[in-house]
Amino acid sequence: MPKSVKYSDSLIIKNAAQIVSPKPGILRGEGLKELTVLHDASIYIKENVIQAVGLPEQVKDHIDDSPRIIDAAGKTVLPGFVDSHTHLVFGGRREAEFARRCAGVSYEEIARQGGGILSTVRATRQMSEEQLIEQGLYYLRKAVRHGTTTMEIKSGYGLNEETELKMLSVIQKLNKIQPVELTATFLAAHAVPPDTTKQQYIEQIKSMLPKAAELADYCDVFCELGYFDADETRNILTMALKHGLKPRVHSNQFHSIGGIQAAIDVGAVSVDHLENITDAEIELLAKTDICAAMLPGVSLFLNIPYAPGRKILDAGCIPVLATDFNPGSCMTLSMPLILTLACTQMGFSIEEAVCAVTQNGAFALGREKLGCLEPGRQADLIILDTDNYQNLVYFFGEQHIEQVFKKGRIIFDRNESWDVNFDAGD
Ligand code: NIG
Ligand code: FE
Repeated sequence: MPKSVKYSDSLIIKNAAQIVSPKPGILRGEGLKELTVLHDASIYIKENVIQAVGLPEQVKDHIDDSPRIIDAAGKTVLPGFVDSHTHLVFGGRREAEFARRCAGVSYEEIARQGGGILSTVRATRQMSEEQLIEQGLYYLRKAVRHGTTTMEIKSGYGLNEETELKMLSVIQKLNKIQPVELTATFLAAHAVPPDTTKQQYIEQIKSMLPKAAELADYCDVFCELGYFDADETRNILTMALKHGLKPRVHSNQFHSIGGIQAAIDVGAVSVDHLENITDAEIELLAKTDICAAMLPGVSLFLNIPYAPGRKILDAGCIPVLATDFNPGSCMTLSMPLILTLACTQMGFSIEEAVCAVTQNGAFALGREKLGCLEPGRQADLIILDTDNYQNLVYFFGEQHIEQVFKKGRIIFDRNESWDVNFDAGD
């Protein structure tokens, strides 16, 4: 039986070697270069909200009850990670395809042979809601161990109304029964199902929009050669907007085919992937408030080029980093690994990378209460077993995350069963 641990409503984390936070607001350019780092500091939390952060004598003045005390001597406190691009709900797994890729067959070749996205579509159609929920919970528990406290999840492995809506309903149900805050995105335009023309399928997607809009906040399109072109992307997303679904675009993963311009035309919230973004497209993007979401785990896993992170940062875009967790192109839930890849492969500084997975990730999901540790913000945070945040990125492939808090409540403790408080809370 998991040990049930009850905590009082208020909490003080004290003696932390470092409390580290991005500045508040949308971060780009110079704003990304510096984190606030407090030494030997405390953080006081009450009713899910950060009440005070600072030196012990500053925080003491705000305490008006008897909080539970956590001594974080020698440890580092950071905001919980926001993983703003995942495909966490799916049927089956694709380890056999992965083994073929390791033996030299390309991702595109596997897709041409009927594998890839379509093999996950077949498996997802066969799973019941209950089975998808059970599997989703399994992956969400793992995500929490990597410090993720908020996540976006897309549909897109149904490619018909029944299964697309089933996936969105699973995301909604998962949101109610476990602590990670979830945002749902409707991605029926992930691929064209077999035995349907693209035009027929686009009409089907449009007819799904009213019901999808009841279950999701965003609509996404895979704008790529062989999938949906820029005009089709604009068309689907314009219609989605009319139903209240805000646009996002999978853009420039393999080719530059006008996805960035389409995203600008429809006022998208983010463009994601960007491995093959051109200099001209970076300049265009930098003039907007559209997030530039980069997914370096995909580049590692598929052995494709990394997005030109340094150029995107220097141009003044709003950078975001996420896992893109999915069974085909990125089978990891590790945000710390994403940070290390961004810094070693894409030219991010550690500070820029931390901003991209906290404050900017929260902006990409429209969650203004999240992403930084300052009074008034929701108390989502992680405690690392090291006295310097740089070690999270530097000493990679290690489990540095000792405790994870969601809304001030502990949801993972490395020293306890991993089931500690893994429910929805209040
Ligand atoms: O985000 N880019 C398109 N779709 C997914 C991969 C899907 C799959 O292979 O199952 C992605 O990378
Ligand atoms: Fe994706």
